[in-house]
Amino acid sequence: MAFLERRIHLITGKGGVGRTTVSSALARAAARHGKRILLAEIGDQEGGYSAIGRHFGVEQLMPTPQELEPGLLACHLWGAAGHELFLHRILPGALVRTALRSKALGRFLLGAPAFHEMGVFYHLLTLLEAKEPDGSPTYDIIIVDMPATGHALALTALPRILLRLVSSGPMAAAVRLGLSYTTNPDKAATWVVTLPEQLPVTEALELVQGLEDTEMPVGGVILNRYPENPFDPDEQAALDEWMTLKPTHGELTWRRLAYSRQSSKRLQDSLEVPLWTLPEIDNLDGRMDVALAEELFGLLEGSL
Ligand SMILES: Nc1ncnc2c1ncn2[C@@H]1O[C@H](COP(=O)(O)OP(=O)(O)OP(=O)(O)O)[C@@H](O)[C@H]1O
Ligand SMILES: [Mg+2]
Repeated sequence: MAFLERRIHLITGKGGVGRTTVSSALARAAARHGKRILLAEIGDQEGGYSAIGRHFGVEQLMPTPQELEPGLLACHLWGAAGHELFLHRILPGALVRTALRSKALGRFLLGAPAFHEMGVFYHLLTLLEAKEPDGSPTYDIIIVDMPATGHALALTALPRILLRLVSSGPMAAAVRLGLSYTTNPDKAATWVVTLPEQLPVTEALELVQGLEDTEMPVGGVILNRYPENPFDPDEQAALDEWMTLKPTHGELTWRRLAYSRQSSKRLQDSLEVPLWTLPEIDNLDGRMDVALAEELFGLLEGSL
């Protein structure tokens, strides 16, 4: 199933592997294909510092989507925004205002286990369901920059746990509706971003397994920051021999190339889903991350 045909993409992976960079590049690429894209990040507080914003020269994102580029909107998925949307669905307006002014309720919504995630999930669902006056979806595709690994699994496992806690009523209906998106491989895909090193590859393979266990359709693995290899196979063989004779200057770089090749092979051998490889982009010449996203976009465009 092609990337552009699905409604929602979740970008996961462990900390620092490039989830935000890849999410931003994918969103920009998809928007340039004429789709209306919503790029969403998950935060703990409203209007905090935005990692996505940095790629587009914006300080912070709000729960309400704002346009960053033609056809590309972004927002901050926030638990409290979801709580408010949900209360509006089940209560008359005046009661919602009273409920939201209640300090006790506020403390409960922030403190109760899984309530923040539930709010995030409901906020996301509302955006997925948003329609234009002609009935078409307001956002063709929503790309979510997910929190680091542990959190991502907590979020993808949440709907089923919730259904065990509340099996009827409006919350259960919302969770079932959400699951009808996120567990359907025609509508959703989860992507695991990783680096060409041993431990991150092991963790990525575990995450793919964990996602499959929570019935999330895995779109593929994105191997990010793959180093450029300037040597052809003959030169590689000659240099391999030389390195075994005499460890020398440049050995670390050489070893990194070898680890990267091994990582890529290990992923190819173990995965049943597609593997995309994105190169390490030399960012040392002071270029902004905006330029990095541009360059990744060019590479990704061919794969969309
Ligand atoms: N392909 C790449 N080439 C060079 N640098 C990269 C590449 N991808 C990401 N980076 C750099 O790696 C760093 C981490 O990237 P990013 O912030 O996207 O990761 P993340 O997974 O979202 O991190 P966090 O866990 O902090 O949210 C950034 O400084 C980014 O510029
Ligand atoms: Mg990030």
